[in-house]
Amino acid sequence: MLWNNVETKPYGSYPLAWDLQVLGRLGPQTWEGDRYTGRTLFESAPPGLRVLNTAREDIDYCYPNVGEDEILGSVERGGALALPQTMWMFYLARICNHCTYPACLASCPRSSIYKRPEDGIVLIDQRRCRGYQECVRACPYGKAFFNPATGTSEKCIACFPKIEQGIQPQCFVNCIGKIRLQGWINPPERARPENPIDYLVHTRKLALPLYPQFGLEPNVYYVPPIHVPDAFLVQMFGPGGPAAARVYREARKDRVLAGLLELFGSTERTVSFFQIRGGEAIALDDNRREIVRVPIDEPIHVRPEYDRAHRVLRTNTT
Ligand code: SF4
Ligand code: F3S
Repeated sequence: MLWNNVETKPYGSYPLAWDLQVLGRLGPQTWEGDRYTGRTLFESAPPGLRVLNTAREDIDYCYPNVGEDEILGSVERGGALALPQTMWMFYLARICNHCTYPACLASCPRSSIYKRPEDGIVLIDQRRCRGYQECVRACPYGKAFFNPATGTSEKCIACFPKIEQGIQPQCFVNCIGKIRLQGWINPPERARPENPIDYLVHTRKLALPLYPQFGLEPNVYYVPPIHVPDAFLVQMFGPGGPAAARVYREARKDRVLAGLLELFGSTERTVSFFQIRGGEAIALDDNRREIVRVPIDEPIHVRPEYDRAHRVLRTNTT
């Protein structure tokens, strides 16, 4: 059971080929502008089921390293210097998406899964669950797991005891790459640009849901990689993928965006609002009290080649 895994795209996947399998079963996916006009997994469900199930088997959970660090393509005519690159891979960090329309919840015949109205976290009631595993088969993202030791299914709980105290989930806090930021999102028509998640998702459209065509409205949003062919971005993040990658490519020149990105991983607390003032980005809590401030441009110190005090050369020879 890997509630939280990182896979190398395009070849990595856990459970094995989870996304290719669902895309294949879903059939052709069509868009008109930003609007998805194809069928979702709910609309494609066969009679008697609420969701088009996956066809996963136990063995699909046995090879979490398949495709890891494998690169697609080859370097041709300096292709590594161009965008998109002719040779590429990227890492995709995955947890349960705490979907707005959770397939796991829809599929459970025991009604053992619930979505908390106060924060949207999707949980499996361990006392009600009888191990029917419909949730495991229904979640297209492969994020509900059966535990044979307990006879029940389990999944990411979004560290709800921490969220309740205004603290970000542990994987957000521990991330040494500082790629994660937890917060609250408003519906698009009530978006507030001073809310960091609203700004990233609604205002700048930089952060996008994974496989929106599945129809679950996942609540984990990704900033797409900048060096990947557009067609792959569209398949994975919808038609907004290439534009989001272009915004990210230019983010350094944009003081508000660059400042907000610096706030990722800067505090353990949930960031409800942010401000850019002078050369600093400031994170605020629910009551608009300051949590932390960080410089937008990190100071750079250039070390002299010759250290006179210690009479030693310190030239880097990379
Ligand atoms: Fe349920 Fe899967 Fe969505 Fe998580 S990602 S809420 S397990 S359908
Ligand atoms: Fe329901 Fe899944 Fe348990 S289908 S009974 S929550 S194993």
